[in-house]
Amino acid sequence: MTPNQAFYRLSREERLEQLLDRHLLTKEQADCLLAGKTLPLSAVDTMIENAIGIFGLPFGLAQHFTINDHSLWIPMVVEEPSVIAAASNGAKRVARSGGFHISHTERIMLGHITFNQLSDPETFSEQVSQHKADLLQLAASAHPSIVSRGGGPIDLFVKPFPNFTSVYLTVDTKEAMGANMINTMLEALKEPLAELAHQQPLMAILSNLPTESIATAQCTLLPETIKTSKMSGTLVAERIALATDYANVDPYRAATHNKGVMNGTDPVVIATGNDWRAVEAAVHSYASRDGHYQSITQWEMTPEGNLKGQLTAPLPIGSVGGTSRVNPLAKLSLDLLQQPSAKDLAGIMAAVGLAQNLSALRALVTTGIQAGHMALQYKSLAHSVGAVGQEIDIISRQLKKEKIANQVVAKALLLRLREKN
Ligand code: MEV
Repeated sequence: MTPNQAFYRLSREERLEQLLDRHLLTKEQADCLLAGKTLPLSAVDTMIENAIGIFGLPFGLAQHFTINDHSLWIPMVVEEPSVIAAASNGAKRVARSGGFHISHTERIMLGHITFNQLSDPETFSEQVSQHKADLLQLAASAHPSIVSRGGGPIDLFVKPFPNFTSVYLTVDTKEAMGANMINTMLEALKEPLAELAHQQPLMAILSNLPTESIATAQCTLLPETIKTSKMSGTLVAERIALATDYANVDPYRAATHNKGVMNGTDPVVIATGNDWRAVEAAVHSYASRDGHYQSITQWEMTPEGNLKGQLTAPLPIGSVGGTSRVNPLAKLSLDLLQQPSAKDLAGIMAAVGLAQNLSALRALVTTGIQAGHMALQYKSLAHSVGAVGQEIDIISRQLKKEKIANQVVAKALLLRLREKN
């Protein structure tokens, strides 16, 4: 291995050696990755019903992230070829301008117990207010361990809707995502609330729109860090700012814009054993909180002529629980991220989403995305027709020069290469 050789040019063994040298992995973890060991087969039957095996996805690292002045390697589980390269590229540009800054509000999750067609919603609401302290106490005693960890139920309030009345419970879930905890508390409140309502509730469930648990990642880029060979940094910056303005007026674009953001965030959610469906639900419902689906990132020019980016969204994850207890790779991911608190982990996920969005927008408003996308697609294509080892690089270089790059062309190129050798 040549010193300072780019990480992506190394073999998988050499990459693991580097991580070992940097004390980012233990020998046991490196061996586990080398051997392709993931979730133990013995665990799958305890996780889902009707398990028949383990479905694999690539596990990689994004580089160059500076977050709150710390350098981090970001674990990502993703199948889309260009995602990790784009995240690393965006992060490298941001690092040249001071890195990402992350922050988080309190982590307050919520859920509701809902009644349909109450005969006297006003009296019910008054009764809930009168019994609020007891109801909160009951919720706390349904999950005492969170109270001993300094969290637990915070507030209870009634929200009227046409034909429906909901009692909302807010909970400080500390390091946990909190879905089970909240659902347990809500179910403990069903019976006492049914007595006050004189009818059974329709349902009791957490909400995946935790508007009081918001992660923020910010960065400010100097224009020269985003210039291209054909466009000045200032022009690129202005065009990136325009790209978010456009996403905010056209939901068809906002959906793709936010998908690009989640290209960065979801792989970290998955790598750390968290529930990506919960995160997706939270992000997209938050993006339409004003009744109009918008971008979850905002890019704008500062008075100094720099480009400022911000991602603000609820990212309901936990730094404990999820599959991190059973999946050694989820634990490894959290180790790589230096065991962040849930607030920091959500902030890191926001920073990766912002980096990914920066790379996508920079490409879109300059050369277009296909050039970058295709480089790795060619490798996948070469691999899919049976190329191995060095053949993959040779075929993907040749595919790049072809007018049409598909499996038929890739197969023919491989055949020709093998005939020559
Ligand atoms: C592709 O997976 C993601 C992009 O479409 C995102 C975007 O358009 O901003 C490139």
